[in-house]
Amino acid sequence: MMNIHIMTLFPEMVMGGLGTSIIGRAMDKGILSIEAVNIRDYAYNKHQSVDDYPYGGGAGMLMQAEPVYQCYQAIQEKINAAKREKSADIDKEEKSISEKKTRVLYMSPQGRTFSQRMAEELAEEEELIFLCGHYEGIDERVLEEIVTDYVSIGDYVLTGGELPAMVMVDAISRMVPGVLHNDVSAEFESFQGNLLEYPQYSRPEIWHEKRVPEILLSGHHANIEKWRREQSVIRTALNRPDLLDKAELTKQERELAVSCSSVRKE
Ligand code: ADE
Repeated sequence: MMNIHIMTLFPEMVMGGLGTSIIGRAMDKGILSIEAVNIRDYAYNKHQSVDDYPYGGGAGMLMQAEPVYQCYQAIQEKINAAKREKSADIDKEEKSISEKKTRVLYMSPQGRTFSQRMAEELAEEEELIFLCGHYEGIDERVLEEIVTDYVSIGDYVLTGGELPAMVMVDAISRMVPGVLHNDVSAEFESFQGNLLEYPQYSRPEIWHEKRVPEILLSGHHANIEKWRREQSVIRTALNRPDLLDKAELTKQERELAVSCSSVRKE
């Protein structure tokens, strides 16, 4: 079970994007809980404004420290209350584990680049808090106090942290046991083992005069596995040769990869 809390000015955007399909189903099943918390609910003036001009001048508005801080405190208090309730009947050792500080992830192009490995690591956490900035960013002082990890989803600039948070929540959630229909499927996909996925085919057998590769109709599982593995190696060598250094390949697979790389250079 994992609890994800997303601090945002656009809760409908986040919940709309995550409430469907696989992630939505995991939420319905109770394997995953995702709540978007509206930072505006913690505004402290009567106009409910959460942004102001930057000191020193410059373009745009900044999100102010206090509403973000109050929002964070409310989430942390909720987490602590739930933990206290749960730990009333568990032993001390477990209690000390559950009292460690919840990670607060701030979506920022200045952060460490998100990766499959990071998704796997974060999927081990019981609670995660995401902080989505908007406008030109957030007052530095509250970031210093609450953020534990600065994370970027790639070298491009978006208008806010909501899409990055949704990307991360999706990638992390599918690594939580029980979210995918079977536990095997997460292991075999792109980037697991640092190889890209092999091509897949479904009915009909012939479509636009293209036949499904004969071997997939043979029913010979060992040969099919071998073919798929080769296809993964070929695709990786052609499209993402940078991944091959980290992949564990047999001598034959290494040779296959090298022969593809030379084709690529021509
Ligand atoms: N906010 C704006 N752009 C971003 C990016 N590329 N990654 C994470 N957060 C962002």
